[in-house]
Amino acid sequence: MTDAPLDPLAAFRLDGRVAIVTGASAGLGRRFARVLHAAGATVVAAARRAEALEELAAELGDRLVPVPTDLAVDGDRARLVARAVDAGGRLDVLVNNAGISTIVPAEREAPEEWARVVELNLTAPFRLAQLAYEPMLATGGGTIVNVSSILGLVAGTPVKQAGYCASKGGLVNLTRELGAQWARRGIRVNGIAPGWFRSEMTEVMWGDPASEAYVERGAPLGREGAEHELDGALLFLASDASSYVVGQTLAVDGGWTIT
Ligand SMILES: NC(=O)c1ccc[n+]([C@@H]2O[C@H](COP(=O)([O-])OP(=O)(O)OC[C@H]3O[C@@H](n4cnc5c(N)ncnc54)[C@H](OP(=O)(O)O)[C@@H]3O)[C@@H](O)[C@H]2O)c1
Repeated sequence: MTDAPLDPLAAFRLDGRVAIVTGASAGLGRRFARVLHAAGATVVAAARRAEALEELAAELGDRLVPVPTDLAVDGDRARLVARAVDAGGRLDVLVNNAGISTIVPAEREAPEEWARVVELNLTAPFRLAQLAYEPMLATGGGTIVNVSSILGLVAGTPVKQAGYCASKGGLVNLTRELGAQWARRGIRVNGIAPGWFRSEMTEVMWGDPASEAYVERGAPLGREGAEHELDGALLFLASDASSYVVGQTLAVDGGWTIT
């Protein structure tokens, strides 16, 4: 016991830590990069669009390191992790956020399309976790946050995307398995399953009355998520605040998956 005043918010800080955020050029990932940066981390931002990453760096300053990366290419994944360790001398947090979707009935989903989605949404997070393992171990551990989806927990139809649902469901159980394998080595693996949020990925939905009604109907909160409404879950899982949480995927979905 200590007489020091209780500071429950201190465990959420990431000062001195180095975090990779994939898919940081747009949407949820750009927000995740801003949030981890605001909590004190050096953020290594990865995506293909170099210009968007440079804009983020110009906004946030030298604790934002842009690394243009095509996550479908294994050599790029290795280069990304190496650049992060170079930049900060360590690697503490990996946010596997980049993802793609295709909407097509399963009977017409082409094998190449399926493979492309699974490669980016499931294989890339696994490879990055493998690559992050040694550098994290070297400093006593780290945290991995896998961004899955409500469509990794429940079916997607009427939005038909078998490859996406399969890859995101795979990521949920990969999160459990890596969590179990690595917990005693200090590497905690958890995930977030967002509900519906506005981004490039979902932009076709907004302004379309049927899609908006679908979101309002399906979410007990009756609306889509606002940009800031993943901040708390991300910071919790990325930081020591979640030090006894392993292998979980936290749905942040306005209640979508409880009904
Ligand atoms: N928005 C939602 O409602 C929602 C709901 C549930 C789950 N999610 C998940 O949340 C994550 C972020 O989604 P979002 O809505 O923010 O999507 P988004 O706006 O489409 O952004 C996707 C990000 O992934 C990056 N990316 C795509 N292909 C890449 C590649 N080959 N290499 C490197 N980066 C690549 C994109 O960057 P570049 O194009 O610059 O490469 C972009 O930064 C995804 O995993 C998605 O499945 C989103």
